[in-house]
Amino acid sequence: MIEQFKKDVDTGLSNCPKSLPSKYFYNKKGDALFEQIMELPEYYVTRAEHEIFQQKKQEILKSLGLQPEVPFELIELGAGNGLKTKELLKELLLQDCQFDFIPIDISQNALDKLEKEINQHLPSVSIKKKQGDYFNVLASLQATKRPKIVLFLGSNIGNMPDAVANTFINTLVQNLTTIDRLILGVDLIKPKTIVLPAYDDEQGVTKAFNLNLLTRINSELGGHFDLHNFSHLAEYTEEDGIAKSFLVSTTEQLVAIDALEKSFFFQKGEKIATEISRKYNDAIMCEILNGSGLKIQCKFSDSQNYFADYILQKNE
Ligand code: AVI
Repeated sequence: MIEQFKKDVDTGLSNCPKSLPSKYFYNKKGDALFEQIMELPEYYVTRAEHEIFQQKKQEILKSLGLQPEVPFELIELGAGNGLKTKELLKELLLQDCQFDFIPIDISQNALDKLEKEINQHLPSVSIKKKQGDYFNVLASLQATKRPKIVLFLGSNIGNMPDAVANTFINTLVQNLTTIDRLILGVDLIKPKTIVLPAYDDEQGVTKAFNLNLLTRINSELGGHFDLHNFSHLAEYTEEDGIAKSFLVSTTEQLVAIDALEKSFFFQKGEKIATEISRKYNDAIMCEILNGSGLKIQCKFSDSQNYFADYILQKNE
């Protein structure tokens, strides 16, 4: 893990333009900051998807064509905080469905937190958390032959460039059969006045989330970043449909990273690209699904049409 982190930081900061992978946002502090982001007035993403699950859970379940007497697996990629999934779980219990809830995450800490949350609020749910890489765990679940409902929510796919998202979906589909379903939650393209503040909030929580990348490099790789010398920048245009986050060097500086035995030069105003958050419409969704054999069965949106959950099925 640390070797990969070293390699990724070295590659990213040696590139022109510079970049750092957004997956490194999520250590304990980053997870806590993301929890705060989800509560921000400007960050509509979580609330919009929560509304879909609150208001349309019965329709969503109907669209999945589940037979209550046939046991199935509800698999969630990424542990999340359970907010949206709990809505679905409550409804499944009400309808007397037989299922195991299987959250998959690389972070044991995130899984343990989610398990505690579910045990506390919905103790009758059978939860079988699996720590590891999504694809390895999914492949191991193929053995059960039980129908699978796979959840990939929160527009997490939007943090991948389109080509990577397409490969991700294609790999995911290899672990599914025609009776399975994928529920893919994505943020929709909308005006800049709504999207940009979500990535540049007034309280500066997103800024702290972004700067945490440098804090991590300082604490884990012996970096010498002075956080006062970097600012947070978010960009978005509706034409592009991608929110982009950067750290910007506010001065000319040379920063040493001990574990790499190297220093990196930053010009005043030079940007480090840290994250993309792609927004979608049906056409972009079709591009992402291209070659996967998945078809859109239906789509559920919130009242403001900010967010959509697509129900996807593998072609016969
Ligand atoms: C996790 N992911 C979908 C969030 C997003 O909206 O791209 C991460 C995030 N970055 C800044 N704010 C939230």
